[in-house]
Amino acid sequence: MAELRSTTGAPHARILGLGAYRPTRVVPNSEIVDRIDSSDEWIQQRSGIKERRWAGPEETVAAMSLAAAREAVERSGVDPRQIDAVVVATVSHFMQTPAVATQIAFELGTEQAAAFDISAACAGFCHGVALASDMVRSGSAGHVLVVGVERLSDITDLDDRGSAFIFSDGAGAAVVGPSDTPGISPVVWGSDGEQFDLIRSRQDWREVIEDDAPRMPHLVMQGNSVFRWASFTMAKVAQQALDRAGIAPEDLDCFVPHQANMRITDAMARAMKLPASVRIARDIAEQGNSSAASIPLALDRMYADGDAKSGDTALLIAFGAGLAYAAQVVVLP
Ligand SMILES: CC(C)(COP(=O)(O)OP(=O)(O)OC[C@H]1O[C@@H](n2cnc3c(N)ncnc32)[C@H](O)[C@@H]1OP(=O)(O)O)[C@@H](O)C(=O)NCCC(=O)NCCS
Repeated sequence: MAELRSTTGAPHARILGLGAYRPTRVVPNSEIVDRIDSSDEWIQQRSGIKERRWAGPEETVAAMSLAAAREAVERSGVDPRQIDAVVVATVSHFMQTPAVATQIAFELGTEQAAAFDISAACAGFCHGVALASDMVRSGSAGHVLVVGVERLSDITDLDDRGSAFIFSDGAGAAVVGPSDTPGISPVVWGSDGEQFDLIRSRQDWREVIEDDAPRMPHLVMQGNSVFRWASFTMAKVAQQALDRAGIAPEDLDCFVPHQANMRITDAMARAMKLPASVRIARDIAEQGNSSAASIPLALDRMYADGDAKSGDTALLIAFGAGLAYAAQVVVLP
């Protein structure tokens, strides 16, 4: 039997550059509250959200992805022709095929990079980083562009008291490439499909078109159950990610959880007994929950505020519909 060749890649992988794009339209709680009989005070107290960003007609999934990707590529110093794969994490690109990643790969000027979309909801960005790290280390790609992007305002039910105030739009991107030293720790990831009903589309596309009054399939969520799962189970996953990276909470500079709810972030930080020296991402106050885009957007704000800098050690943990989750420790570019 013929023996097939195998490949090995770089000894390690790391993030070489990050980019972000926030839609220009700022939507304060005051614009949301009337339709759901709520108040700015209630929303801030229960979720930590003061305002969110919603995309305008020109700020499509492709346009926001490209803006974030261009920034990440420029900051990485990598020539787009060196990018061998583009992975886009999203659940709100409504052209089902082809993958939006192919458009990004072309517009960026890659040389026909492999390009595909992944669906892991709010956990999408960390799934993408894990894939990219493995691709670089296995030799299947030299450099990988990972994008997390959403236009959740298209599928948010503005009359739903439990979710109208939470979701938002935006994009973030990372270029992952070779490294002599470890820059992305082994991922801890998984899914609890028994609870797939907790956050999901209200209808599938067939049900939408058969409906008497067709409309976008809104996200529906059992907020209380999601809250409990995220606050308790995800703190354990975060600890496992630290263990796999071989570091203690004291070694961390930044904690960057998915921006789901400020109270979930606080509950996780308490459960992990994070020391006060660890800077915690709190982008949700001004950005809302932008699902796959939330971690790179949160990092973007931490850099801008001086809470993150090159060489810092950051724990990323993302979780959401599925219920899917992924966590890893990275060295910041
Ligand atoms: C959505 C969320 C903020 C709701 O908070 P909650 O404390 O669970 O709210 P509940 O549904 O238990 O309702 C509590 C009370 O607030 C009221 N309420 C619910 N929504 C309200 C709103 N938008 N405005 C004002 N009051 C509201 C309820 O009627 C209820 O009143 P009652 O006590 O008089 O019966 C919370 O469940 C949450 O953040 N869950 C996680 C969501 C999330 O992170 N999703 C993304 C994961 S990727």
